[in-house]
Amino acid sequence: MSKTNVAVFVSGSGTNLQAVIDSGIESANIAVVACDTPGVMAIERARKHGIPVELVDSRDFESREEFERQIVAKIDRYDIGLVVLAGFMRILTPYFLGRFANRIINIHPSLLPSFPGTNSVRQALDYGVKQTGCTVHFVREEVDAGPIILQAVVPVTEEDTEETLLEKVHAEEHRILPEAIRLFCEGKLTLSGRKVLISF
Ligand code: GAR
Repeated sequence: MSKTNVAVFVSGSGTNLQAVIDSGIESANIAVVACDTPGVMAIERARKHGIPVELVDSRDFESREEFERQIVAKIDRYDIGLVVLAGFMRILTPYFLGRFANRIINIHPSLLPSFPGTNSVRQALDYGVKQTGCTVHFVREEVDAGPIILQAVVPVTEEDTEETLLEKVHAEEHRILPEAIRLFCEGKLTLSGRKVLISF
């Protein structure tokens, strides 16, 4: 099976990166991990598995686009077919989105369109929803609003704290992110307006 070269973008602990690595998707080659924050655990995870890391410290740049141009220059040599945002905490500009049009996906810790932005698990808990979850979606200019590929539901109990709920949401993220990558790399996702059609 031919493999799609995947760039995984991270900013933090990298548990989703780890799940993608561990799931050993046959149709995907994790060609590079791109990171905007020095010293994070995700870098260690990548190195441990012999995956090249391209670190571009976002603090060294005046604008988001300048930062992106630098990161694109670094990942260009890997012939990337899919960009996966796995806990990458930066909003992308039209420049980057155009450069990888319809080839950028993101994992978000809520059932979008509920609770976009940051602290989504906290937001869900405070709102009192009975179910939350996670979403993998194509990335568009409007934050957390792109076409939805997969979602998973997590029940919220009265005993849940932010920590316990986060743990349950993470477990589902670690399941659906690799699955979405597999579907993309096997050519099973078709965009139809803002809908994603999946051929299983
Ligand atoms: C994940 O829960 C992911 O959904 C979230 O950051 C976490 C990263 O964890 N992303 C966002 O909130 C994006 N808006 P990880 O570094 O352990 O994979």
